[in-house]
Amino acid sequence: MPQIAAANTAPKPGSLDPEDWDATRALGHRILDEMIDWLSTSRERPVWRQMPQEARAAMRLPVPREGMPVEAIYDDFCRLILPYSSANEHPRMMGWVNGGGSAAGLLAELLTGIFNVNCGGRDHAAIEVERQVIAWAAEMVGMPAGTSGVLLTGSSMANMVAVLVARRAALGAQVRSAGIGGARLVAYASAAAHGCIPRALDMAGIGSDALRLIPADAAHRMRADVLRAVIEADRVAGFLPFLVVGTAGTVDTGAIDPLADIAAIAADAKIWFHVDGAFGATASCSSRYRGLLAGIERADSLAFDFHKWAQVPYDAGCVLVRDPALHIETFAQSLAYLTQEVRGLAGNAPWPRDFGPDLSREFRALKVWMTLKAYGTEGIGRVVESGCYVARYLAARIEREPLLELLAPVALNIVCFRVRAGADDLDDLNREIVADLQEAGIAAPSTTVINGHLAIRAALFNHRTVAADADALVDGVLEMANRRRT
Ligand SMILES: Cc1ncc(COP(=O)(O)O)c(C=O)c1O
Repeated sequence: MPQIAAANTAPKPGSLDPEDWDATRALGHRILDEMIDWLSTSRERPVWRQMPQEARAAMRLPVPREGMPVEAIYDDFCRLILPYSSANEHPRMMGWVNGGGSAAGLLAELLTGIFNVNCGGRDHAAIEVERQVIAWAAEMVGMPAGTSGVLLTGSSMANMVAVLVARRAALGAQVRSAGIGGARLVAYASAAAHGCIPRALDMAGIGSDALRLIPADAAHRMRADVLRAVIEADRVAGFLPFLVVGTAGTVDTGAIDPLADIAAIAADAKIWFHVDGAFGATASCSSRYRGLLAGIERADSLAFDFHKWAQVPYDAGCVLVRDPALHIETFAQSLAYLTQEVRGLAGNAPWPRDFGPDLSREFRALKVWMTLKAYGTEGIGRVVESGCYVARYLAARIEREPLLELLAPVALNIVCFRVRAGADDLDDLNREIVADLQEAGIAAPSTTVINGHLAIRAALFNHRTVAADADALVDGVLEMANRRRT
């Protein structure tokens, strides 16, 4: 039997609270001051600086056994971490699909850290904030009131959740205990769909081979006529078509699949219609671009992120499901230690954990709630319009430059282009130019492959980016191309 320690041998109190809260307060003020300076001067810095080997080495220490003052840890942060950011805050970050964060978002993150609630469930205000955010999300894209949803890390998880709900819709309740057995499920997405779609099928036990990639047209949009034919052929061959994924904003070019046509085909074929609107769904905030998404409101489920075009700090993905009962039936579990009661702190069912795989969850909803309240959908819509404007400006400049060529039409805010001459291997030349630009700190585009050619890909997601940044990118590309020729 373990003995309870006598009073004189009792361990020191375990509280981690500081002896002097005022010192914590002072450090907090200092951090906020210095970090706002850092954020508000991002344009004055190089876009990106590679972390030197000495800094990496300085990070590698054994686990601390005794603590150290938080002031000293903050000094480490300023020395070893801050200078080597991923560049998301910078107006000339143009790579991949990265949002820039915002003032309201950073304050929300501070509050989230202080509040430290677990948003798996129970009866507290944060759950209501999340419910409000889900209702706003449905309203933004035109899905009906009562649509269910949950915030997740990102669209990879949101697409995964949608695949699981669609799987449940196709195979019934027993799929949760028995798995898919020999069901010959097949799903459909455009050849330009994001890699998280096949991965979701893989993780759902269906297998990525079950994804039929439907060819895209010259504008990189799914060919709905081919979709219809492939579904019919699969049925004849004895497969069970269960899911069609339309993409609202493909990762490579920003193309928007013909969502209304796909919705009609899915309805005729009685197949789940899911939309991956990772960033494109945010265009619903703009009256100018909303029309491009026509059909999104007919989705059975929608995956998208607030951390991309809506500028909420990482991470803030979202899945919406038109049928809340089916959504709950896909995830809810009955567990003695998590019993949902009709009164007390264990009340207020259903809980977010009934709509997704996570139990312990951070208060993601606060930063979304604060961002939407601070800027409104109109403010986010202006971010969308500005990104699309800079993309058109960039495309026009590229078309005026004899050494450059566009590789894809500009649908929204993504521009794919390349240097068209100057080396035998143009793919290699353009790849090197992108790395040159990043290492010089001029701009940080990324690369992709369009119709077999390596493209310089500029994705205008940062709300701080203006047309002069597009010029800086083009000037930088031309300068690096010339340097490599001489
Ligand atoms: C179209 C599309 N779908 C899904 C994703 C995955 O989103 P996340 O990175 O938030 O998981 C992305 C990421 O860029 C995307 O562009």
